[in-house]
Amino acid sequence: MSSLPYVPLDRRGWHLAMGLRPLDESKWFEVDARRDSELVLKKKLVNEERDVVVAIRETGAAPSAELLGLVVENLATYHPGVPLDIVEGEHPIVQASLLVQEDLCVLVHDEKWRLEAACVCFPSRWNLLSKLGATLDDIHAPVPGYDQELSRPTNAFFDRLKPERSFWRLNWTLLDDADLHQPSGRREGLESDPDQWFFRIERQTVRKLPETRAAVFSIRTYVASLEQMMNESADFVENLLLALDSAPVATKAYKGWVGVAQQLRAALA
Ligand code: HEM
Repeated sequence: MSSLPYVPLDRRGWHLAMGLRPLDESKWFEVDARRDSELVLKKKLVNEERDVVVAIRETGAAPSAELLGLVVENLATYHPGVPLDIVEGEHPIVQASLLVQEDLCVLVHDEKWRLEAACVCFPSRWNLLSKLGATLDDIHAPVPGYDQELSRPTNAFFDRLKPERSFWRLNWTLLDDADLHQPSGRREGLESDPDQWFFRIERQTVRKLPETRAAVFSIRTYVASLEQMMNESADFVENLLLALDSAPVATKAYKGWVGVAQQLRAALA
């Protein structure tokens, strides 16, 4: 593990926001030194825990095939040294996901946007199968404040999305486990001591497919130890404590941050 490419802590404290920024297509995927090991892990999870990491409905087939074509083209253009080993006979959402370190989801619009195909090997304590066929609102039902603050803008954003303009955003949390694959185990607080905690970020992108008009959501997960983050930046712990203190009670419970600021302060003292 090495340091993270992004530290999405806000100096003004915690707030719930869409936080979308324009994405250049050359930056759709990020390739780094962990590519080989992460792709080996993804392949193992697809083989051994397929029901946990792959979720597909028939409607997702055509957009997944279109997505695979774009992933191959994007890697060949912007990451030309990267091997393109396509797993024959697989569903295209799995083939595409096994080419990049990102997890991939396809959403299709009928009367609403719904999750129709996904290969998510590195979820941050949520259950993929329970989200299959769900709308954006249903997917986000456990997220405190989403309904009041993000539902309307997020649905409108998906409705207006155009193939020429893609976007990205960041999420972060603290966990007491460094594993990338964490499909379950949401808790209100953290076990162990802060020297065993990890700062985990997700870089997410949203892109519309030109042919099938489906939307693609990618999630790239990076993890570093809290200790490493604190050693690298003097501001880190200050901004982290501010976020932990200023988050609403319901957000703290949802994110597993109950009592966490106190634990951290005690450890620092
Ligand atoms: C602009 C688009 C989106 C926004 C603004 C958004 C926002 C959020 C936020 C704020 C959270 C809470 C997580 C946290 O703070 O750590 C969340 C969780 C989540 N989001 Fe999104 N999201 C978007 C798109 C999507 C899409 C397209 C999917 C499709 C799979 C998705 C799947 C999830 C899941 C599975 C969770 C965890 C829910 C749970 O705990 O059960 N999001 N999202």
